[in-house]
Amino acid sequence: MSKPVPLLAARDLTKAHGRTEALRGASVELRAGEILAVTGASGSGKSTLLHCLAGIVRPDAGSVTYGEERLDTLPEPRLSELRRTDFGVVFQFGQLIPELTALDNAALPLMLGGAGRKDAQQRAGEWLERFGVRGQGDLRPGELSGGQAQRVALARALATGPKVVFADEPTGALDSLASEQVMTALVHTARETGTSVLLITHDAQVAAYADREVRLTDGTLAPSEVSA
Ligand SMILES: Nc1ncnc2c1ncn2[C@@H]1O[C@H](COP(=O)(O)OP(=O)(O)OP(=O)(O)O)[C@@H](O)[C@H]1O
Ligand SMILES: [Mg+2]
Repeated sequence: MSKPVPLLAARDLTKAHGRTEALRGASVELRAGEILAVTGASGSGKSTLLHCLAGIVRPDAGSVTYGEERLDTLPEPRLSELRRTDFGVVFQFGQLIPELTALDNAALPLMLGGAGRKDAQQRAGEWLERFGVRGQGDLRPGELSGGQAQRVALARALATGPKVVFADEPTGALDSLASEQVMTALVHTARETGTSVLLITHDAQVAAYADREVRLTDGTLAPSEVSA
């Protein structure tokens, strides 16, 4: 049997922020339906890697291939479309829109995809429910706790039925019980829908939910010794 083709593959990525070389030849593959944990010390380049893989930041060198397409050279209009249709991103620092309620934040990508407001709100509400924040739907991000905001961001990322979810420390502001609940909901959804997940975490208990773990050290990746 031939080796399964990865859904998303990064090869030899380099990316500098000013004089800081955040990535120095990082290669990683994400398979269809796989949950992959990326771990590594603070400042090791995890968020930079996620931004390159999700087509938010262009690497300085190396390639990012999604299916048949090269994301690193894809023209911006097609890249934006792909991000909207195929990717869901949970940023490390939430990035909810402050003027919108939690419900409308979660509903927005559905509306951008063409759904009417009522329909989008109803579907978004179900996602808030799944992550235990339905009761906070009318609140604005400034009125949410850090953990509630993270759960709204997860609901928003999953509501459109993406093929790949990129989650940057999605449990970073949660206690262990809430982490467990959120990870259970995320893994359940991913398994149910065949969604691939790239999960950045510094928490070994969270990484244990993944199928596989890779570790970033000095801007390059190595398989972790602790493999699920
Ligand atoms: N916009 C930026 N401007 C300048 N330097 C940056 C920028 N973003 C990241 N860096 C630097 O690049 C390196 C990698 O940052 P990155 O955010 O990818 O790390 P990380 O592994 O996600 O860290 P953490 O676990 O703390 O979130 C760090 O040294 C950081 O200071
Ligand atoms: Mg980070």
